[in-house]
Amino acid sequence: MDSKTECASLMLGDTFPNLDLKTSTGDFKLYDYQGSGWLIFFSHPRDFTPVCTTELGRAAKLVPEFEKRSCKLIALSCDSVEHHKEWIKDINETQKTEVTYPIIGDADSKIARSVGMIHPKLDEKVTVRTTYIIDPNHVVKIMIQYPPSTGRNFDEIIRVLDSLQLTVNRKVATPENWKQGDCVVILPTVTNDQAKEMFPQGWNEVKPYLRLVDLNAQPKK
Ligand code: BEZ
Repeated sequence: MDSKTECASLMLGDTFPNLDLKTSTGDFKLYDYQGSGWLIFFSHPRDFTPVCTTELGRAAKLVPEFEKRSCKLIALSCDSVEHHKEWIKDINETQKTEVTYPIIGDADSKIARSVGMIHPKLDEKVTVRTTYIIDPNHVVKIMIQYPPSTGRNFDEIIRVLDSLQLTVNRKVATPENWKQGDCVVILPTVTNDQAKEMFPQGWNEVKPYLRLVDLNAQPKK
């Protein structure tokens, strides 16, 4: 692999770097922008491309939902900040929204390369659609990659953010297709004696390893 194609890769549990950024809303260091909350860092193949235009528009419409979850958005596209500013006008017009989150300028793809957003086997200059969900300690909690031809589902990104925020401090995990308010599963490492303390509302034991609990239920009298 030559230096041009070399890409760093991040894994779950890695600390996301405190990048120096030039963006459509100004220049700053990533951690300063993130503050004390969560961060979604997502990349786009290029400016003025159709799927990306719809994705950035959808993300802009969902900003209030992300704010409710103390989560900021930041996008990256391998073009200049000036180019992004022109493109944002099109996104706002065509998607009937206002992009308020920053888009990182990365015309030489240096940043995308440094955080594993360019797939070495795909076009050198085109990022894959990577989404990192980064916790308040800057740890990568989720990474999702789609090819350029497939737009993301931002409702799914909110769903997994909800799962992360719920499971980070509680000894539970979320089952398939879980959404806020649904029952969750008690971690297999939790004994029934421990579970009685943690979940006084009781649980439904389908199998000893499959215990479903409703976190909103009242404790049993
Ligand atoms: C798009 O965003 O529409 C796109 C970008 C690169 C390849 C295919 C589609």
